[in-house]
Amino acid sequence: MTALSLLLLAVSAASALAESTVYFREQFEDGGLQTSQDARFYALSTRFDDFSNQGQPLVIQFTVKHEQSIDCGGGYIKLFPSEVSQEDMHGDSVYNIMFGPDICGPGTKKVHVIFNYKGKNHLINKDVRCKDDEYTHLYTLIVSPDNTYEVKIDNKKVESGNLEDDWDFLPPKKIKDPEAKKPEDWDDREKIPDPDDKKPEDWDKPENIPDPDAKKPDDWDDEMDGEWEPPMVTNPDYKGEWKPREISNPAYKGKWIHPEIDNPEYTADSEIYKYDSIGVIGLDLWQVKSGTIFDNFLITNDPNVAEEVGNDTWGKTKDAEKKMKESQEEEERKKREEEDKKRRDEAKEEDEEEEEEKDEEEEEEEEEEGEEREEEEEEEEEEEEEDEGTDSKLKDEL
Ligand SMILES: *[C@@H]1O[C@H](CO)[C@@H](O)[C@H](O)[C@H]1NC(C)=O
Repeated sequence: MTALSLLLLAVSAASALAESTVYFREQFEDGGLQTSQDARFYALSTRFDDFSNQGQPLVIQFTVKHEQSIDCGGGYIKLFPSEVSQEDMHGDSVYNIMFGPDICGPGTKKVHVIFNYKGKNHLINKDVRCKDDEYTHLYTLIVSPDNTYEVKIDNKKVESGNLEDDWDFLPPKKIKDPEAKKPEDWDDREKIPDPDDKKPEDWDKPENIPDPDAKKPDDWDDEMDGEWEPPMVTNPDYKGEWKPREISNPAYKGKWIHPEIDNPEYTADSEIYKYDSIGVIGLDLWQVKSGTIFDNFLITNDPNVAEEVGNDTWGKTKDAEKKMKESQEEEERKKREEEDKKRRDEAKEEDEEEEEEKDEEEEEEEEEEGEEREEEEEEEEEEEEEDEGTDSKLKDEL
């Protein structure tokens, strides 16, 4: 809650370098913004100087760490036009771009890249996998004025292409000509039955015949059993249904291809990438299991600057983070092993004590037994004699 109650602070004036512009940058000193309550909607946003990405690349970058080993929850950001009301920001608030990882169960582990185009949200047609481990990852989206894009994770390209190809912003360029029809006499049979092929005269044979080897049983009584008939068996000469062989169709014209025409609904747009107003960045997401840490937000027009910032932030901490986690896990493993060993040793000691007690008891018993043995043997002999007596008595009674 503490981290969340912090407000994102905008870097007021976009710090303009030679040609590159940083529109927004936020790096938290205390380790980022962390979601803190399970099964909750989060809505947090901050405003910066409104800009348009017309004629310029647009780079959105931030880090996400699912420290809690997330099962279901969003890890994406949204860029809004300035007109959005931050106080009333919710799932249906109109945004320009939604970008970042989204995980829910084993089925959904993707990077969302959603663009609002002419009032409608369009999801990417490709499946971009996100990271689902517990480490910090750097997510970068680059949208270029030539209507291409690139998605990077940890400063490595994971997807790229054309906006027009990978989203359904525009209707298709070509459609099947609704006027065109396959001509009635179009023969698209590649093979036909050979008209000259004739069924051989001796082809037709019954499928089943009376068993020629069957003999009427000797004790068969026609009056009692009815007239004897041999059982039916499969006819070895049966050839099945006759079909003429196939030959190439001399009239074959090839597969009919539906001619295409320019789609009258299609209008090219060379500025799909463009947003007139970008002025608010927000986290508007749902998390089943909280604990995700967001940090290192950056919006710029320079992919190089973004990469550098990525290197200076995520790039500097990733190895230490990994080492720390590994040593933590190593420590936990050792602790577990020690506990296991302790438990085993204790169990062993108990066993040994029991053994000793047992040994002592046995020794004592043996000593006593030694003294008693002679007496017992004598007694047993006597008893045996007696037993025999009762035995025979019983037998007699039986
Ligand atoms: C970022 O780091 C990678 C790996 O060390 C390096 O190859 C790349 O040139 C760096 N990028 C920038 C812009 O400094």
